[in-house]
Amino acid sequence: MNFNFANDLILREKKIELENGRPESSWYLFHNHVFGAAEVARIVADLAGMDSNRAYFSALLHDIGKIRETIEHRFHGVLGYLMLKDENLDIARACLLHTFPFNRLENFEHYTKMFFHKKEDYDLVFDFIRSHPLNDYDLLVQMSDGLANAYGLVTIEERAAEYAKRHGIDVPQGMLESMHELKNYFDKKIGMDIYSLYEKVAAKDIFLAYPKNEQNLPSFTPPLNTKL
Ligand SMILES: [Fe+2]
Repeated sequence: MNFNFANDLILREKKIELENGRPESSWYLFHNHVFGAAEVARIVADLAGMDSNRAYFSALLHDIGKIRETIEHRFHGVLGYLMLKDENLDIARACLLHTFPFNRLENFEHYTKMFFHKKEDYDLVFDFIRSHPLNDYDLLVQMSDGLANAYGLVTIEERAAEYAKRHGIDVPQGMLESMHELKNYFDKKIGMDIYSLYEKVAAKDIFLAYPKNEQNLPSFTPPLNTKL
């Protein structure tokens, strides 16, 4: 994966987002969430002796299907997977699996209120998990996804609280426990608390300033650029 490919892909999707009249708040969320997740994944991968390039781009593009999700009424993980599988199967895999900690998939009925609009999307994830053993990159993207939101890097609790507010549903207790399990796994692997790495990421100044009060969002057309 190279920077230009990822950048072009993000710009193309963001153009679709703007054309579909999405609120400006979704722009901040997408940008800060994916760039935050990518940075934390890269640093942890580096410290854990994993491929930091693979980790960075897997986390950066894990939500690339998100913008089309409400347009196409399909699970964004599958949309991202289909977008990327011919270009880079490792990154496509991150899209497909990032919302299922430890690749544990419940039955289809469990997800009727979230993720799956179509049974065929569920079946694709199910078949993929069955034929591809869990690896550390799956886990790293799952963890990183749970640490970044519209404000940048946050704690698991802050991310869950913002998610609950935005979607009007509480994050299930089991999901919170899984997120802690993921973080503990990597804390141990790198011999430090991942939260202590946040300052390093904040210093890179990659986040858009997102006002605490959404009503006060500045009225502007977000620039079509990214800071890869
Ligand atoms: Fe995400």
